Amino acid sequence: MSDLTSAILKRRTTKPSLYSDRIPDPEIIRENIEISRHAPNHHRTEPARFYLLDSDRIQKIGKLFGEILAGDLSDPSLVERGKKKSKEWGNAPGLLIVTCLTEINSELVRKNPEVADEDYATCCCICQNLLLLLANCGIATKWSTGAVWKHPDFAKTINMISPKNERVVGLIFYGYSDQKPSARALVPIKNHLKDFTSTKD
Ligand SMILES: Cc1cc2nc3c(=O)[nH]c(=O)nc-3n(C[C@H](O)[C@H](O)[C@H](O)COP(=O)(O)O)c2cc1C
Repeated sequence: MSDLTSAILKRRTTKPSLYSDRIPDPEIIRENIEISRHAPNHHRTEPARFYLLDSDRIQKIGKLFGEILAGDLSDPSLVERGKKKSKEWGNAPGLLIVTCLTEINSELVRKNPEVADEDYATCCCICQNLLLLLANCGIATKWSTGAVWKHPDFAKTINMISPKNERVVGLIFYGYSDQKPSARALVPIKNHLKDFTSTKD
């Protein structure tokens, strides 16, 4: 099996509560962000923006997510869930937020509205590149779309470049973990592949 095949098959999500306290060297993350950007990108728009958080900001993001989950505080189960998530997120050793910046009022987007989707697709490729690259460095990850960006203080907390044009693609939690989750079985490919080259069908 090639290294790439093995990396793809072995990558699994590991939740932040299963990471050790050891903080991965930010230099490793920065190097891999740089590599991950080499993804297909229609119109060469380079839409991904990266926010590599320090522990104070990770805690703040955890607090904001807790507040989003708790809502108007009327439901004790949601308040409890908010507390739990706030702790889980806030204690994560590493968090990288990836956003997609598409200039909505640019001439390019006005002429080609599909650019917004294409930019998002590029950012998703970049996120997967990152997960694989970090796994290759022994760093566990979890890609989350927990809606912390709904919090009015979110953009300010990460000093977002252009909130009107930017959409969160993923919160990438990362850290070291002893957990070795096994490969995940998928639905048989024949259920999802219409193969016109096959002589058997
Ligand atoms: C776009 C995207 C958003 C995700 N958001 C969440 C999330 O909000 N919460 C969560 O627990 N997992 C989230 N995940 C992780 C998936 O739940 C996980 O990939 C899935 O369970 C398959 O497990 P695996 O990554 O180990 O193969 C997300 C994954 C992707 C690709």
